[in-house]
Amino acid sequence: MRFLRNSLQKKPQSLQKTLGIGLTLGVTLLWMLALLSTVYVSHNKLNELFDSALAETAQRIMPLAVVEITNREIPGQSQQIMSFEAHDEQLVYIVRDESGTILLQSHNADPTVFNKTLHKGFSSSVTYRFYGAWAVQNTLHIEVAEPLTQRRDAIIEMAATLLWPLVLLIPLCFMGSWAFVRYSLRHVLTYRDQIESRGSGDLSAVTVEGLPAEINTIAESVNDLLDRLRRALESERSFTANSAHELRTPIATALAQIQRLQHGVSAGTVKDKMVKIEATLRGLSGLSEKLMQLAKAEGGGLLSTERHDLASLLRLVVDDMQRSFPASMIKLILPQDGAFMSVIDPDAFAILVRNLLDNAIKHGASNQPIEISFSSKGVLSIVNAAPVIPAETLVQLRRRFVRSNISVQGLGLGLAIADAIVTGAGAAMTFNSPATGRADGFEVSVDFFKISKK
Ligand SMILES: Nc1ncnc2c1ncn2[C@@H]1O[C@H](COP(=O)(O)OP(=O)(O)OP(=O)(O)O)[C@@H](O)[C@H]1O
Ligand SMILES: [Mg+2]
Repeated sequence: MRFLRNSLQKKPQSLQKTLGIGLTLGVTLLWMLALLSTVYVSHNKLNELFDSALAETAQRIMPLAVVEITNREIPGQSQQIMSFEAHDEQLVYIVRDESGTILLQSHNADPTVFNKTLHKGFSSSVTYRFYGAWAVQNTLHIEVAEPLTQRRDAIIEMAATLLWPLVLLIPLCFMGSWAFVRYSLRHVLTYRDQIESRGSGDLSAVTVEGLPAEINTIAESVNDLLDRLRRALESERSFTANSAHELRTPIATALAQIQRLQHGVSAGTVKDKMVKIEATLRGLSGLSEKLMQLAKAEGGGLLSTERHDLASLLRLVVDDMQRSFPASMIKLILPQDGAFMSVIDPDAFAILVRNLLDNAIKHGASNQPIEISFSSKGVLSIVNAAPVIPAETLVQLRRRFVRSNISVQGLGLGLAIADAIVTGAGAAMTFNSPATGRADGFEVSVDFFKISKK
């Protein structure tokens, strides 16, 4: 079972590498086959050639030997032909009479290597190839011997000469097929890069020209799937946004009515119940507002076509919220050199900052200031005093309806909205608790650097 899982989780193999290795192995194998058949054919041809040379030599020497032997004063005497000058003799021969007595032999001939019986035609021993022939009515027999090492050396040399190119061929073939496959897959690689470089919120069709037919079908199916997914998500979002929008007016009307009714009622149980209903209605109004924000955050349109200065936008949102707080409660530090331009949609940015600031006000210690800073590199950081949040809770906070401080009212949607905006726009958000350089507190940082140059 584990083996099955392991094999299923195996790292995907690169097509380029597989084809490169496969083709190289194939070419090497073919080369080896060609080499073996060449060696085989050449071996046979060489043997034929060597054999005919051997027979030719015997035929040439024989008449000379006959003259030499018949002209002797003492017939039957053995004689060794002296060499004119020292040389490496490859072919050796002996001439014998029908009883096997040696009458003549070449200067280097060793009679022990020759056949004991007198053969006609070709024969072989382990180390020599022989050719025997009769003359003078079968009374004289010549046998020429040639060492087999000559033939073997020729074949080995030829095989080695054919093997050498493989040393070059293997790396060349591997690199060649690697480059060729890469060239053939260039559109597929562009397709991969296009998919990889997309933000998580981008569900538009991927269009790449020149895809191979096999991949084109997959690309079309992926586009179909993206289209269906986009429509499903859009209908979900528009349902959320519409329902929240539709709820807004009746909730506001009910809230106004309950407030008006409260004026005519003196303190008592009825008044208490009315206060509770008002609180519930306010909660509902907050929920519809947050649902609308979530629908916007998860929809498209988080990036605008123009670039805006985030520093001045931040100042506007903070000023707006600061009105209901003592001035000393919110400290805002903006970059010295002014603007930081980014393509994030200004409304989405305002929703993001409002939710983060709302959290700092709601969950932070009320007697300690909130520090908001925006660096020239585009990092927004909001720090407030608060009890330390354990790391395992911290990683869950960006999920919907997850809360860790239930002593104040809330839905657990603020950070989910912030996260949807940040990821949809292509920025990055991190939480720290305790805050950097402090023993307690909560710090949220959003890095807009990546979306400053788009
Ligand atoms: N600035 C902060 N200081 C301390 N705790 C925080 C801070 N911001 C978020 N948290 C913790 O993270 C939890 C999730 O925050 P989130 O904004 O998603 O929900 P909420 O503020 O409780 O409700 P909502 O924002 O929907 O009204 C909070 O309940 C709180 O425990
Ligand atoms: Mg919140």
